[in-house]
Amino acid sequence: PFYKTMFGLLELEEKIRSHFGLSQVVVVAGDSETSMQTKRELGRAGCQVLTKVMQPNDVVAVTGGTTIAQVSSQLVTNTPMKTNWFVPARGGLGESLDYQANTIASQMAKRTGAQYRLLHVPDHLGEEAFASIMQEPNIREIVEVIRSARIVVHGIGDAIVMARRRRLDREVIDAMEAEGALAESFGFYFDRNGAVVHKMQTVGLRLEDIVKTEVVIGVAGGKSKGEAIAAIMRFGHNDVLVTDEAAALEIAALI
Ligand code: G3H
Repeated sequence: PFYKTMFGLLELEEKIRSHFGLSQVVVVAGDSETSMQTKRELGRAGCQVLTKVMQPNDVVAVTGGTTIAQVSSQLVTNTPMKTNWFVPARGGLGESLDYQANTIASQMAKRTGAQYRLLHVPDHLGEEAFASIMQEPNIREIVEVIRSARIVVHGIGDAIVMARRRRLDREVIDAMEAEGALAESFGFYFDRNGAVVHKMQTVGLRLEDIVKTEVVIGVAGGKSKGEAIAAIMRFGHNDVLVTDEAAALEIAALI
């Protein structure tokens, strides 16, 4: 569109796309951190990307957060997606209800006539609790569905901001900081090179599942997230990035 050429957004999209070897980058005008309208635009752009890649029988795993909540509240479809499933990518991570992956997955399914499954398990479990929960047939079943997702839609956050929002223990946050944690996504924490710091067991999507997911769509914007987004792109398993101008300018300055 005309406005994209006018503000050089197309050039930004192409610069980021080619640098990280992505299949598509979408940059919306503005800064979603300071403008609610830009945040909605970011969500809407996320919807467009998602509905375009979805095929019958797809399982779509989604993460939580305020940005993916914007995708879920605007998702629309012409025909009900009866054969599709929306599932949370991870168990409970300590987010408030509106921004939990479970809530977002169910809202997406309701808005599109698709089906959903929920995972009512806290994600950070001790070894014993983890082993015993994974023995439960109904938990195993939903976990298998989650791990079979062809599409993942995820937010990206600053590591320390997210660790605090999820009320991780002070010692865990300090240890992560010492290891260079800069970005958070899929419930994992990454350093500036996209290497995972602070590995943990999870009932949801594991790193090895993300690595082999066919379509990984990141949706994140805001000036302060530029570095975090670049770190996740260096992790190297994204196919699509939907971001805003403010973050894109930060990312472009880093590459
Ligand atoms: O994974 C990162 C967070 O879910 C991002 O949350 O969209 O509220 O900034 P946010």
